[in-house]
Amino acid sequence: MRTRTRDGLANVRHVLRRFTSPLLPDDYTQLINPLWSQRELRGRILSVERGAHDTVHLRIAPGWGVPVDFHAGQYIGIGVPVDGRFVWRSYSLTTAPETSDGIFAITVRAVERGKLSTHLVRTMPSGQPIRLAAPAGDFHLTDPLPPRLAFISAGTGITPVVSMLRSLRERGLESDVAVVHSVHSREDLLFEEDLRAWDATIRITSEEGRLGPEDLHALIPDLPSRVIYACGPGAMLTDLEEWAKAHDADIRTERFVLDRDSDAQGGTVRFLRGGTEERAVREVDGSTTLLEAGEDAGVNLPFGCRMGICQTCVRPVLEGEVRNLRTGETHGPGERIQTCICVPAGPVSLDV
Ligand code: FES
Repeated sequence: MRTRTRDGLANVRHVLRRFTSPLLPDDYTQLINPLWSQRELRGRILSVERGAHDTVHLRIAPGWGVPVDFHAGQYIGIGVPVDGRFVWRSYSLTTAPETSDGIFAITVRAVERGKLSTHLVRTMPSGQPIRLAAPAGDFHLTDPLPPRLAFISAGTGITPVVSMLRSLRERGLESDVAVVHSVHSREDLLFEEDLRAWDATIRITSEEGRLGPEDLHALIPDLPSRVIYACGPGAMLTDLEEWAKAHDADIRTERFVLDRDSDAQGGTVRFLRGGTEERAVREVDGSTTLLEAGEDAGVNLPFGCRMGICQTCVRPVLEGEVRNLRTGETHGPGERIQTCICVPAGPVSLDV
């Protein structure tokens, strides 16, 4: 039924394209249904369920042409108008692919200085049309599954993990799985029912302290022989990666939050087309990425994950220096940088 509907839409577009020039078919189909577009992927907020401690669970109905298949652990991008501009972020899908039924589900917690997360948590209405980027990401279950798994997460790092746990259960593959999840306080705990169902170790760090890699190893004695999936704050993942290297363990990590603290002072950013034609100039602080600054200036640069993973956003620096918030490295003229995780370290010219 869905295929026939899409074929019908394609025919309508074909006819419209012949008769609507110089406007595009989208300009007309949007009047009929705002989710029909060939230029971009769209969706609509189907339901908004606000939870404790500044969280919200959103269900999203994808519009025409959006790929709905995904692997447990992958994320989608969402673009939402905030103060007159589209603001984009990536969020992990939380349902199992086997039960998602063509609907995307995400859970968002409002973060400090998080323009979009705050908007989603506090004011996003049900029914709002949004833009979408297709499911993507390498942090997902593999086929065939490793015989023994360990999931280690902290805070909202539970979101891709819960999708994988739900998928394992749906597929009846739940025999040898160890789960450890940390939160700052009890109120921060999301998906408690899922965690309890897996007999997870839940750590409240404000009461019991943080778990380092050696603590985790003590909790899961055969940890080095398991395939480890870890998602949480950058420092936790860096410690785990070093531990895994020392123990020759197989670890897959996902960094979901960009740590914006750095000594980069920001500066004037010039966005140049073809290296010469000035498209926009912006004063940008040291915690705003070049991708975000471009979007704020009306220069829409390509992007995918917005987390420093996919390389879709790479552009060359023409003049000046930028700081990579993930690695702390500084890059200068001639280097190609990931605009989603780099901030200006002084005046910068970027080829867009
Ligand atoms: S958007 Fe994926 S690395 Fe920048």
